[in-house]
Amino acid sequence: MRIGFKGEDIRERLFLATGMMPELAVVPFISMVVNNAFFTAQRLGIFTLLERGPQTAEAVAEQAQADEHAVQVLLEALTGFGYLQRRDGTFELSRAMRKSLSGRSAEMARSMLEFAPDVARKFETLDEAVKTGDVADFHFNPVNADQWGHYLTFLKQSAGRPTKAIVDKIELENPRRMLDIAGGPAMYSIAFCERYSELESVILDLPESAREGEEEIKKAGFENRISYVVGDIFTTDWGTDYDLALLSNMLHCFKVDDCRTIIKHAYEALNAGGTMIVNEPGFPGKDEQIDTFAAFTSLLYFTVTGGRTHPTPSIETWLKEAGFEGVKRQKGGNQVQVIGRKPK
Ligand SMILES: C[S@@+](CC[C@H](N)C(=O)[O-])C[C@H]1O[C@@H](n2cnc3c(N)ncnc32)[C@H](O)[C@@H]1O
Repeated sequence: MRIGFKGEDIRERLFLATGMMPELAVVPFISMVVNNAFFTAQRLGIFTLLERGPQTAEAVAEQAQADEHAVQVLLEALTGFGYLQRRDGTFELSRAMRKSLSGRSAEMARSMLEFAPDVARKFETLDEAVKTGDVADFHFNPVNADQWGHYLTFLKQSAGRPTKAIVDKIELENPRRMLDIAGGPAMYSIAFCERYSELESVILDLPESAREGEEEIKKAGFENRISYVVGDIFTTDWGTDYDLALLSNMLHCFKVDDCRTIIKHAYEALNAGGTMIVNEPGFPGKDEQIDTFAAFTSLLYFTVTGGRTHPTPSIETWLKEAGFEGVKRQKGGNQVQVIGRKPK
């Protein structure tokens, strides 16, 4: 994946190819306007209004309780950017937008549409965060009352394929007890319990994730096999006697020292011979090429939590330091799993 402009006509393509249009300077400027048009439309509920059918700018302004002139400008801009189309003085969702919201990945697209404007609020404070290194972790300082709902829907949507990739690809010898550290709305615990019929799982997480996860556990019929320990992982009791510990998409919420502490803690909670799985987006080691997806995830995680996507080789080192043996990595979905065993 690479972000860039293709050029809408031959003239623009020529300008880009010859460098007369300096792409790396133009991309942030134009995409800033596109992004903000998108976020404002979503926050004002304009996409939802237009999903019901074509409407005039006047009607949209009235329902969104907004200024008619400003709404007209915004709707025209969204038309130019490909989100809307106009016909007979009305605006409606473009074919591409309707396809995104009704195709195979519709739920994923909707969850991004809802969650991205919340994340954008955090990016407004990036200058200060980079200067000071301090970020108000959005798990403890939500940007608005809806953030948790949007975030949890997004987590459930994005868990789908990776859970399958992990559960199907990693062979375990009938684990009995699993510790799902910051297990979110239970998607991974449910997938593991579906695969291993004797497995019980304990999920550590904050109250908001636990409330949502308990609904998912009920739907899956696993109330007797999956339970939560609710609270901050740094102050709750994790228990012991686990055969499997999963750390999925949570190291990126923390800085290096906390990551080492969490991995050591997981090592102590596991039985001899137990398996540790760390699941994170991949990030290259020093001097290797950083691709767009790795760059995207890392700055995103820093901006919302203060952490980052840690280099995969660092995660391998932390597991070895904690005492895990046979440490190896595999790729599943667009993420990487680092796996280690506590010696028998
Ligand atoms: C990105 S989500 C990962 C959820 C799930 N493991 C997955 O892979 O989809 C991070 C989770 O960590 C939880 N979390 C963040 N900080 C935490 C803390 N200090 N204590 C407990 N849970 C925490 C959040 O509530 C959230 O459910």
